[in-house]
Amino acid sequence: MKVFRIEGGTPLQGTIEVSGAKNAALPILAATLLTPEPCVIRNVPNLSDIRLMAELLETLGANVERLDANTWKVEAKKLTPVAPYELVKQMRASICLLGPLVGRLRKAQVSFPGGCVIGPRPIDLHIKGLRKLNCEVSIEAGFVNVDASEIEGSDVFMGGRMGSTVTGTANVVMAAVLTPGITHIENAAAEPEISDLCNMLVSMGAKIEGIGGHHLIIEGVKKLHGTNHSIISDRIEAGTYLMGAAMSGGDLTVKNVPCAYIRALLDRFEDSGIDLEMGQNQIRINTEPKKLRPVDTITLPFPGFPTDLQAQMCSLMTLVDGLSIITERIYPNRFMHVPELQRMGADIAIEGNSAIIKGVESLSGAPVMASDLRASAALVIAAISAKGESWIQRIYHIERGYERIHQKLAELNIKIDRLDDSDMPASIKGLV
Ligand code: EPZ
Repeated sequence: MKVFRIEGGTPLQGTIEVSGAKNAALPILAATLLTPEPCVIRNVPNLSDIRLMAELLETLGANVERLDANTWKVEAKKLTPVAPYELVKQMRASICLLGPLVGRLRKAQVSFPGGCVIGPRPIDLHIKGLRKLNCEVSIEAGFVNVDASEIEGSDVFMGGRMGSTVTGTANVVMAAVLTPGITHIENAAAEPEISDLCNMLVSMGAKIEGIGGHHLIIEGVKKLHGTNHSIISDRIEAGTYLMGAAMSGGDLTVKNVPCAYIRALLDRFEDSGIDLEMGQNQIRINTEPKKLRPVDTITLPFPGFPTDLQAQMCSLMTLVDGLSIITERIYPNRFMHVPELQRMGADIAIEGNSAIIKGVESLSGAPVMASDLRASAALVIAAISAKGESWIQRIYHIERGYERIHQKLAELNIKIDRLDDSDMPASIKGLV
């Protein structure tokens, strides 16, 4: 397995470019199944999760071609409705195949996604939504089976205990665009990735009103045609690098920033006293943690502060003098980064679904273990800002969601090496 060795102490300095959004690209690639005509999808980040989605589309019968590192062409003339366990188990987002299969084939058999380290991730709302569209849904032998032969437009409330659901909304939208009648989705997720999906579907001939809001109105059409769509840039990647710069005391220009999508982060920055130079789709950040004020943060559905930036915010606050409280409202147990940050000297206590962070003078490099995508990102920015050397294990997590992170950071003169775990000194191998 690959590991990162990072020698801390070099701030993020220079210019970095944000890639396409993984969480927009995954459902959009799935949506190409809604038409037999070719779809060309551009600005797709080159990531392992994307390659896995391409493999899933091929398994379902689509012809998938990679035109260049960031462009995919999908032509789904013929499809089978079965998404197998071997592939689905590797990526929870595979569940977003349910909607397109239902829309196109009136039938789906998608393996039930497995557990997840960030906490329980049920799909009850996806199922509730499809049932509202008059689909018969059953769970058998580890598969979600949908019979949509009687599907019809309806009123769907996409809410549960934890609020709206992003992928659940994507599934119902993708089913409804080819469903006879009108579907109203209330409490729809309004994340930019959902708007990108809806815009892509409209470019294929779908009729969707209310894009960007919590009430989507979809008039089913008989068929959709091919399209040429470019994925929005990744707000979480942008936020990660901005926080990395603030934490390491850098002077970083982040290009391709979807500014309108990271308002909640910019608001936290403003409260913390960070001066930003805002440009056209780019932000320059020039600060250091010692100048910042601690801020409290609560994760919420968009436009609130994203759960996918919570771990990085925890990292940043470990070096800000004073007390900050970070409360996780989407995945209440998503704090696997905390014990690893503690290994680096952070002063953090967990109380229920909150992390209470007392800023320390400095972090010290340590061998740490990445547990999921965003926790790994938090460890990378902590390692860059720490004194001494860190070894981050299980970096396959970070490579699922950050395109070329190793090269992008190396181009900023960060001392980062991507090595085999066999290269780790024997003295620290047994420590994590
Ligand atoms: C998406 O996951 C993202 N994944 C996640 O990104 C992100 O953390 C999450 O949205 C929240 O923003 C993709 O887009 C591929 P949800 P999703 O359904 O759609 C509860 C990353 O690091 N819920 O919006 O699966 C659920 O437990 C990640 O890139 C139900 O109760 O998330 C959670 O508390 C990981 N029943 C809340 O809703 C359901 O049927 C939001 O989950 C579905 C969800």
